[in-house]
Amino acid sequence: MKAAVLQEPGAPENLIIQEIAAPTIQDTEVLVKVKAISINPVDVKTRSGKALYGQLKTENPVILGWDITGEVTTIGKYVKQFKPGDAVFGMVNFPGYGKAYAEYVAAPESHLALKPTNITYQEAAATTLAALTAWQVLVHVGNIKSGQKVFIQAAAGGVGHYAVQIAKYFGAYTVGTASAANAHFLHEIGLDEQIDYTKEDFTKKVQDVDIFLDTLGVDSVAKGISIVKNGGQIISILGGCNEENNKKTEAAGIRTQNYLVQSSGADMAELAHLLEAEHVKAHISHEFNFEDIADAHRQVETGKTRGKVVLNLA
Ligand SMILES: NC(=O)c1ccc[n+]([C@@H]2O[C@H](COP(=O)([O-])OP(=O)(O)OC[C@H]3O[C@@H](n4cnc5c(N)ncnc54)[C@H](OP(=O)(O)O)[C@@H]3O)[C@@H](O)[C@H]2O)c1
Repeated sequence: MKAAVLQEPGAPENLIIQEIAAPTIQDTEVLVKVKAISINPVDVKTRSGKALYGQLKTENPVILGWDITGEVTTIGKYVKQFKPGDAVFGMVNFPGYGKAYAEYVAAPESHLALKPTNITYQEAAATTLAALTAWQVLVHVGNIKSGQKVFIQAAAGGVGHYAVQIAKYFGAYTVGTASAANAHFLHEIGLDEQIDYTKEDFTKKVQDVDIFLDTLGVDSVAKGISIVKNGGQIISILGGCNEENNKKTEAAGIRTQNYLVQSSGADMAELAHLLEAEHVKAHISHEFNFEDIADAHRQVETGKTRGKVVLNLA
């Protein structure tokens, strides 16, 4: 099968498409013939030697990626939910070894859900790591409730655009940061209030936030403390809740947590319901062929992607 192998950590062109043996499956896994994958900032960071690279480098060859959709070809003997021919999607073995940049992926049954029939394979590939992150942060950690005010940093990005739609689904009021170029897009997906971070200081425009979803890190959390209400919470997906910030939040009666997304077929099934009912829709701004995976990495590396970047396998 074809796979994008990372020869050594570094530039996007270090990802080389090669012929390698297809994976074998464990009893609790299915083999998926991949139709599309998506790329996330963590892929880019890991490719350059940061993030999860230290953990993955012991494998030979190193194959990155976690987000897949495709058709089940073979099932392990303990697999109950899926059969050959099923269309599935999910984030495989995160934060471990997903090996998603390949024509065939061995995936635990418990990391996948059936792909809704009303969405394309591209949309399914896009609604994986980023969407799971938004879901797990808002629902499992945030325990989001109708009427709450949710503040989303980088609302137009992969995680952000799902967070806006999921928060709206739960009946929350949403405020998000983005540049002016994304104002129309964010209005279309239901954001109630946009703050153009290139011109405006969000601390002067927002108050009484219940859930602050941080995607930017320590400085963003430090600023965010002043806009979150007593009893509210700050959840950072970029390590923004450090000791110094936590001291201040404790004094202000705000709960904090750094969060790392986890593979979950049960959560994928929840996302599948939202996609089926059209409460959530993937926005794909860039689509590439698998052979152009380096270009897909370059796009994600800009930090300016609207929604998601997806790659098609033949
Ligand atoms: N811990 C976890 O489990 C987890 C999971 C997923 C992601 N992450 C991390 O969370 C971060 C966001 O991920 P992502 O997939 O959403 O990234 P992304 O899709 O690459 O985000 C791109 C978006 O960021 C916006 N942006 C850039 N700088 C901004 C700023 N200063 N203020 C507000 N918006 C800004 C851009 O909007 P404009 O073009 O309008 O500027 C663009 O739409 C990444 O660092 C990623 O590694 C962590």
